[in-house]
This record gives sequence, C-alpha cells and structure tokens, in this order.
Amino acid sequence: MNNISLKAGALSQGPILIGVTGATGAIYARRLAQVLLEKQIATELIISEAGRQVIIYENETEILKLGLREHKISNLFAPPASGSANFRAMVIVPCSMGTLAKVAHGTADNLLIRAADVFLKENRRLILVPRETPYNGIHLQNMLKLSHEGALIIPASPGFYHHPTSILSLVDSVVAKILDHLEVEHNLIPPWGE
Ligand SMILES: Cc1cc2nc3c(=O)[nH]c(=O)nc-3n(C[C@H](O)[C@H](O)[C@H](O)COP(=O)(O)O)c2cc1C
Repeated sequence: MNNISLKAGALSQGPILIGVTGATGAIYARRLAQVLLEKQIATELIISEAGRQVIIYENETEILKLGLREHKISNLFAPPASGSANFRAMVIVPCSMGTLAKVAHGTADNLLIRAADVFLKENRRLILVPRETPYNGIHLQNMLKLSHEGALIIPASPGFYHHPTSILSLVDSVVAKILDHLEVEHNLIPPWGE
C-alpha cells in the first residue's frame, strides 16, 4: 500500500494532461480545459474512442476546437507515454469504470492508460473523476486500490451549498475542486465561509 500524498507546491510547471473517456459528462472536461486555457496554462488532451463518441453525442465538440495539443490514444510514442516528459498533473475527466479498472490494474494498453500508469510510477499528481451510478463492488475496489496508490478520486458529484442556478454552476463546483487539487487559483465558486 503506497498512499502517497503529494505536498503542496510539489507540482512542476509542465503542461496539464486531460484524459477524456466515454463516461457521460464531457462538459466537465470541456469546462476544465476552457478554464485552464483562460489561465494560459498549457494543457494537452488524450481522448478515448468512446470518449470521442460521447463528446459528439453530448454536443460538447467545443473541446476539440480549443486548439489544445491532442495525442492520439493509439500513439504509444507520444510524450505522455514516458516518465521523462515533464507533465504537471493528469486529470481523467469524466472517467469511465472501464478506464478506472484498467488504470487500477496497470494494463497500459493505450496512451491514456499508459500515461496514468506513468503518473503513478513517477509519483505525480493523478486525478480521476469517476462518473457512474450506482457503483458495484468492482468499481469501489478499483477506486480504493487507486487511492492507495496515491491517485486522487474526485467524483463527478456537484455540490449545492453555493446555490447553483444553472448547469454550468453545478459543473463548476466539480471543476473548482479539480482546480484546487491542481493548485490553480480560481473564483468559480466562493470558498466556504466567504
Ligand atoms: C452515452 C453514454 C454514456 C456512458 N456513460 C458512462 C458512465 O457514466 N460511466 C461509465 O463508466 N461508462 C459509461 N458509458 C460506457 C463507456 O463509454 C464504455 O464502457 C466504454 O467502453 C468506455 O471506454 P473508455 O474507458 O476507453 O472510454 C457510457 C456510454 C455511452 C454511449
């Protein structure tokens, strides 16, 4: 059991890698990518085949038009496949149970899974944003396993205490939590107590 907790300030200044899978909720990835772009933080993308289908199905193709550097999921020669590439952090959002299982079991059989495997072995910040309901025991065990390996599990579970009045406001409550753990300052939702 590893259970590594990275210290604040331990993140490099390299690009942030966003992995998009075929879970519902492509809007979370689009919004995160837009905020990072607004903050001029270099951001790169890997999209699974199912992820691309869901992006289209959910009318979230805007993420494909942001001009982000995208690595083909089949390209195991791309920088994210190697620990020598200096990525700051990786966020898999939304994260399907299929990808979660593969990362938990180290299959490394496409660039997205391999990149996550590299982040774990290099002790870099890896955030998974799972989206499924209900969870079965396999999902829960895989999440526990990844948590023990040092990955951060941030479920796509919006909060309501900021009194959201729109879908974007709900989405932002999840994106804000991701940004907190990427150590990126934001004002998407007011901090509790302010
Ligand atoms: C519209 C749609 C929504 C889906 N939503 C989810 C979901 O929320 N969570 C999940 O684990 N799988 C979901 N799936 C199933 C995944 O897309 C499927 O398991 C796929 O193989 C995942 O592949 P990937 O992990 O390589 O992206 C959904 C599929 C479709 C077509």
